[in-house]
Amino acid sequence: GATGPIRLNAPALFAPSFPARAHATHKGTFGSLAVVGGDTGMCGAPILAARAALYTGAGKVHVAFIGVGGPAYDPPHPELMLHSADALRLDTMDALAIGCGMGDTRRAAEALGRALRLDVPKLIDADALNLVAREAELAACVAARGMAGDACVLTPHPLEAARLLGCDAATIQQDRLAAARALATRFSSVIVLKGAGTVIAAPDGRVAINPTGSAALATGGTGDVLGGIIGALLAQRLPRYEAALAGAYLHGLAADTLTERGQGPAGLTAGELAPVVRELLNRLI
Ligand code: APR
Ligand code: MG
Repeated sequence: GATGPIRLNAPALFAPSFPARAHATHKGTFGSLAVVGGDTGMCGAPILAARAALYTGAGKVHVAFIGVGGPAYDPPHPELMLHSADALRLDTMDALAIGCGMGDTRRAAEALGRALRLDVPKLIDADALNLVAREAELAACVAARGMAGDACVLTPHPLEAARLLGCDAATIQQDRLAAARALATRFSSVIVLKGAGTVIAAPDGRVAINPTGSAALATGGTGDVLGGIIGALLAQRLPRYEAALAGAYLHGLAADTLTERGQGPAGLTAGELAPVVRELLNRLI
């Protein structure tokens, strides 16, 4: 049977997966990530994710906005490359993070369908998870990718997990380990079931409970930041499960660190997590 969950208190589990920052490397070594999302009026979510990806060491970070009227650039972070979804070639990316503020329009569903056909590591969050729950064809596509050795990373909160499994959030919360394992099997994907005690489960039976983080994270946009962190790790070629472990661990530890510094739990903002993730990451690698 499956082995029991490990308490993820050893960054040694994922630290060896990080790419070496050798002298002769260039930005291509650290990969390109595209964050796909941001329907009209919801541009903040993908920008938060993209900024977090920069601070997590991705070589190049793009945002592909699904909606119209997205900003041309991000004033505090002109490093980010912003596009409309039609204008960006997703097949040239090393990883995709899909769903932040994406909405549930036909355009969003089509963009997700197109992304799911690409042989590029994919993180699926938020509205994209709701589309997968709603459209059987998209769900079949996610599972097929996993069966073909290209597992997606799915990052549901309990309500998104409930929609994916066709139950209610209370049922998910009653047995979070079982829920994460059921999702990993159903979708042949690596699951990050968010909330206090984030559970990470792989389709091969590996499972872990993340010990970091607190209610300081119960504020808007922290999920988008987690998506950007894991997306950046995928772009840097971490294997899916290790990227999920490392992302959840660093995201929570950043919140714990800010709380120790007196900047939480009250009033911690999602955007403040990323620079702390950078500090933690540079201590690990
Ligand atoms: N303890 C530890 N971690 C926590 C806690 C807690 N008590 N509360 C929240 N978190 C963490 C979660 O584990 C997760 O990493 O904060 C993050 C919250 O992520 P989301 O639930 O996705 O929240 P948010 O970023 O605000 O989502 C914004 O996206 O998924 C949609 O419906 C959602 O519209 C909403 C939007
Ligand atoms: Mg969310």
